[in-house]
Amino acid sequence: MTTRYLTGITTTGTPHLGNYVGAIRPAIAASRRADSDAFFFLADYHALIKCDDPARIARSRLEIAATWLACGLDPARVTFYRQSDIPEIPELTWILTCVTAKGLLNRAHAYKAAVDQNAASGEDADAAITAGLYMYPVLMAADILIFNANKVPVGRDQVQHIEMARDVGQRFNHIYGKAWRTAGGGGEPFTLPEAAIEASVATLPGLDGRKMSKSYDNTVPLFEGGAAATREAVMKIVTDSRAPGEPKDPDSSSLFAIYRAFAGDADSAAFRDELAGGMGWGDAKQRLCERIEQDLAPLRARYADLMAHPDTIEDALLDGARKAREIARPRLAIMRRAIGLGPLVTARAHAPHPAPPPHAGEGSARAGRGPSGKPSKRARIVSFRDGEGFRFRLLGADGDQLLLSRAFADPRSAGQASRGLTDANADAALAPLDAARFAFMQGADVLATSDAFPDATARDAALQRARAALASLREAQESLP
Ligand code: TRP
Repeated sequence: MTTRYLTGITTTGTPHLGNYVGAIRPAIAASRRADSDAFFFLADYHALIKCDDPARIARSRLEIAATWLACGLDPARVTFYRQSDIPEIPELTWILTCVTAKGLLNRAHAYKAAVDQNAASGEDADAAITAGLYMYPVLMAADILIFNANKVPVGRDQVQHIEMARDVGQRFNHIYGKAWRTAGGGGEPFTLPEAAIEASVATLPGLDGRKMSKSYDNTVPLFEGGAAATREAVMKIVTDSRAPGEPKDPDSSSLFAIYRAFAGDADSAAFRDELAGGMGWGDAKQRLCERIEQDLAPLRARYADLMAHPDTIEDALLDGARKAREIARPRLAIMRRAIGLGPLVTARAHAPHPAPPPHAGEGSARAGRGPSGKPSKRARIVSFRDGEGFRFRLLGADGDQLLLSRAFADPRSAGQASRGLTDANADAALAPLDAARFAFMQGADVLATSDAFPDATARDAALQRARAALASLREAQESLP
């Protein structure tokens, strides 16, 4: 079993060391594991919540995409895309909005913090708070749930959002789970995600000891400004006034915490001893710079190259969006049917000419027969039983499976459903189910589905084969005595 990891980065800023240590590095490491199926995206719809400066958002998208690629994200291996290239995400957001308790959103930290700030400054509680900020957790739930992510690598500040995504997903599963399965979806509509935090370095402190964050203006730049900018920031890390030779408390400054985020246990322990033994802060900063550069120098070169070629980044993102939508589109199609937003009428199968009522026998297989009455190489419907119940398959003339039915509780209902396949008067029809599959449906009830095909063209070709197979079966029935 592979684990699906999914991470979004809001495109409002320039990546800093805290982003690298807390999110980018662990997520890319996880994406390289053989058992991981990783999704990374630029959360540019989320960016609109915080920022109405188009130039800043555009610049940030480029910088963040270049950063992730420079840090080793392999777009051939993972699914790397922009949120705004996936229209199914805002569509799902609305659907989820309608099962999300308003009270849940009232409790979201980001929204509450904004309300508290208004209260503190004597403003109206909702002053300058957009509905976007309020809805933020629902959009994020849609990001995660649409792809059935198992693990979401995030900073601690985001854990509440993952819990909310679970809540919302669970509620949807509860309300629509059965309808989802009837509509042809397997299992539960949504996998419930878990937050994944790298325990040792989940939050990197900034220059002043508070969490490294753009909003505190205490960051160490990652790539922008080059090694000089990183160094300049490190030199500004706040330390106490102890002079060289005096023992230092390694835990009282960000310096040691940042060092530890790059160095292994042994080097960190040695660095700790040297600080306790009186190493000067200036020397310590120098050592920290060297340690950081050891990791970052090769990545900087790649970053510069990517920033000079935005078109290659664009291509990678569009390709990622295509991969992502191959998953999102069919899921949304099923979801729409499940919640009652499917087509009003299902188109009837187009038989080449009207077929009379069927005379099919009740055997376990209804094979077509040639005019002579002898079995010929024709399409067949085969019924069988498995652990879940009674099913049937439609096989093409060459024996390939065109449709597999769902499990029915008893042979009678399976037989009745399978007879609909060759009964042109039955109120059931073959039609596309989603981008990858077609189905045999009665209203919204999916009686049987095809395999998943790589794209709609392959699906439609198989659908034509299935229609031809059914036409040949009907012909055979006509010619029976
Ligand atoms: N809200 C996240 C942040 O600010 C970004 C984000 C948006 C995200 N959608 C997501 C993270 C989905 C993980 C999964 O960091």
